[in-house]
Amino acid sequence: MVPAVSTTTARACANIALVKYWGKRDARLNLPAAGSLSLTLAGLVTTTQVAFDAGLADDELVLDGKPAGAAELARTRAFLDLVRAAAGIATRARVISRNEFPTASGLASSASGYAALAVAAAGAAGLALDPRALSILARQGSGSAARSLFGGFVRMHAGRADDGSDGFAEPVASPLLDRVRMVIAIVGGGAPKSHGSRDAMDHTAQTSPLYRAWLELVPRDLAAAEAALATGDLTALGELAEGNALAMHASAIAARPAVIYWQPATLAALAEVRALRAAGHAAWATMDAGPHVKVLTSVDDAATVAGAMRSVPGVTEVSISAAGGPAAILAGGHAA
Ligand code: PMV
Repeated sequence: MVPAVSTTTARACANIALVKYWGKRDARLNLPAAGSLSLTLAGLVTTTQVAFDAGLADDELVLDGKPAGAAELARTRAFLDLVRAAAGIATRARVISRNEFPTASGLASSASGYAALAVAAAGAAGLALDPRALSILARQGSGSAARSLFGGFVRMHAGRADDGSDGFAEPVASPLLDRVRMVIAIVGGGAPKSHGSRDAMDHTAQTSPLYRAWLELVPRDLAAAEAALATGDLTALGELAEGNALAMHASAIAARPAVIYWQPATLAALAEVRALRAAGHAAWATMDAGPHVKVLTSVDDAATVAGAMRSVPGVTEVSISAAGGPAAILAGGHAA
């Protein structure tokens, strides 16, 4: 029995995929067509409070201090419906969520957002779910969110089961964990992205002549990336990550009509990353559903890489992030 008001606050870090998720095998359950591999980042944090309140007539969502728009509220309501169904309750919830970085800019805010929401909503609803079950729940909000339940390097399974029960994420140990940094170069001041990842990946799957090649590539890149993680080979991991990101974008660019996330400053940043490598630095680029460039680098080279990114015209903000930890409850009930 959930009390009249039951509140839980949780935090989760965003993650950046080194082998990308781009395309689904089941839209209803939000199951990926292939696996993916990511690094959770300490510098990109979402904090979310969920209060199931018997006095509410409808769900409410406040995002970064402002009432959310209708589309975002509808998506959150659908997610809360999953939690309510699992908990056997009908109570509406007030959700207050804050990102410590620009929202909806291709900076993986849906990953940390739905991971924090899954943990907070399950806790407030009185559901005791383990991290794997929470990752399956978070996946249904946003595919990449399943990975943000865990810290460090994380693999996501596409799974085979029709019910999505094996479409979960789990951490991957690596001697690289303390040696890597991600330099995040914001292009275009963090303006909202041009195409949401959800629609853009479906459109790529339906229309891109390169989508089949993309799906064939991912398992090979995943196996090679996991081998690089196991042996601590940062160069091999970096080369794979950059090649995989470019292949994902190639498949999207070839969709009809094209999905192009890059801006001129994105290409200038990519050129700077190549120049850094030519000068002997550890630097490999990856991009998601937005114009920003994230550079995988080493602890030793992070300051040099960040300085070089700051000098790229059109890059408006640069930060350095270490690996982040798992999603966690900050206040309220039911730690997993
Ligand atoms: O979780 P979604 O639906 O926002 O999709 C994430 C897609 C990428 O960020 C481009 C790749 C990834 O694996 O995170």
